Amino acid sequence: MTRISVCCGVGGTGKTTTSAALAVGRALAGERVAVLTIDPARRLADALGIDALGNDPVAVEVPGAPGRLWALMLDRKGTWDAVIRERARPEIVEKLLVNPYYQAVSTRLSGSHEYMAVEKLHDLVHSGSFDRIIVDTPPAQHVTDFFQAPERISRILDRSLMSGLLEPGRVRGAATRGAFAIIHRLAGDRVMSEIREFFHLMGDMSTGFRERSARIGEILVSPSTSYWLIANAQAPERNDLLGFLAELRERRMHFSGFLINRVQRIPSGPFPGARALHEAGAGLPGWPQMADALLQLPPRLTARAAAQRDAIHSLTEAAGGAPAWLVPDVPGGVRSLAELARLSTHLPPAAPDLPGRGGPGLWARAG
Ligand SMILES: Nc1ncnc2c1ncn2[C@@H]1O[C@H](COP(=O)(O)OP(=O)(O)OP(=O)(O)O)[C@@H](O)[C@H]1O
Ligand SMILES: [Mg+2]
Repeated sequence: MTRISVCCGVGGTGKTTTSAALAVGRALAGERVAVLTIDPARRLADALGIDALGNDPVAVEVPGAPGRLWALMLDRKGTWDAVIRERARPEIVEKLLVNPYYQAVSTRLSGSHEYMAVEKLHDLVHSGSFDRIIVDTPPAQHVTDFFQAPERISRILDRSLMSGLLEPGRVRGAATRGAFAIIHRLAGDRVMSEIREFFHLMGDMSTGFRERSARIGEILVSPSTSYWLIANAQAPERNDLLGFLAELRERRMHFSGFLINRVQRIPSGPFPGARALHEAGAGLPGWPQMADALLQLPPRLTARAAAQRDAIHSLTEAAGGAPAWLVPDVPGGVRSLAELARLSTHLPPAAPDLPGRGGPGLWARAG
């Protein structure tokens, strides 16, 4: 059975980075794992060795890993084209692929990125080649942007909804006829005929889309699919995260916990005392003020760490005691497989989750 881990969260919190680190950790734990990522930052793509847009799994060598890792970078248009090639009647495939309305749907339609991610997920699950698939999701304000994508796209592709545009003669009611006439005037003859051709070519594929979107829906709520919420330690978006969690619970999706990313390391070891510090730069212009400012640093860092720790505990408590893992901030960004492997030691399955409030291990582990 293929397990699925989905990393969700608002933009820029580190979904792509933590997805990659989770995947490396699973390969180190002996699994055959694929990470399906969306637009990784350049240096992460370099670290994973995925140079070009790739819809097919590319093997990534993880030194010392008993398992195996593959990475894919979602190519939305390529996935749409593959879906069409697989499902449309052979004689209409080429016509459909060059139809301008199809090109707009496959590249610009809102939700189509999310839809293609779950389409790809469906294929990877059914390939039977992986123990686990880690899915990095596009930035979203709502978890539902991602999960409702199959439903939404299949509705858009539903020919019956478009029957008014396709066969205006059959529309009943003056108001509806009037509305279609306005759409027609705004869009123009050419666009209307492209749209008609699109729906004509799609023909009964919309039934196939509906069935497949129902199967994808089952995968998304299956007990073998679990969800991570990624938070930024510097500014945990508490309301967004709790909103995401409520949506997951409402849809009976399986929440694994929070991954709190970019936790700052608190410098450890003895800090020179006031006297030693003042003596160290004695005679230098401005040194006494500099030394005083430096002496403020450890209590400030400690206070900031305590505030972060409280914010994280309050988040996990508000989430009903949900587990959380702390992912350290890597100065200069994550740019190599070795760094991903190091981050993975802070993540499941290698690390236990957050110790209780006040536990000293909380920040020590983030180093
Ligand atoms: N633990 C970390 N240490 C240092 N830098 C990090 C860490 N995690 C993420 N970053 C950096 O933060 C930036 C955003 O990370 P990432 O691309 O993983 O976020 P994202 O949630 O996938 O963003 P988007 O919503 O745009 O897809 C990147 O530049 C990445 O290198
Ligand atoms: Mg990303």
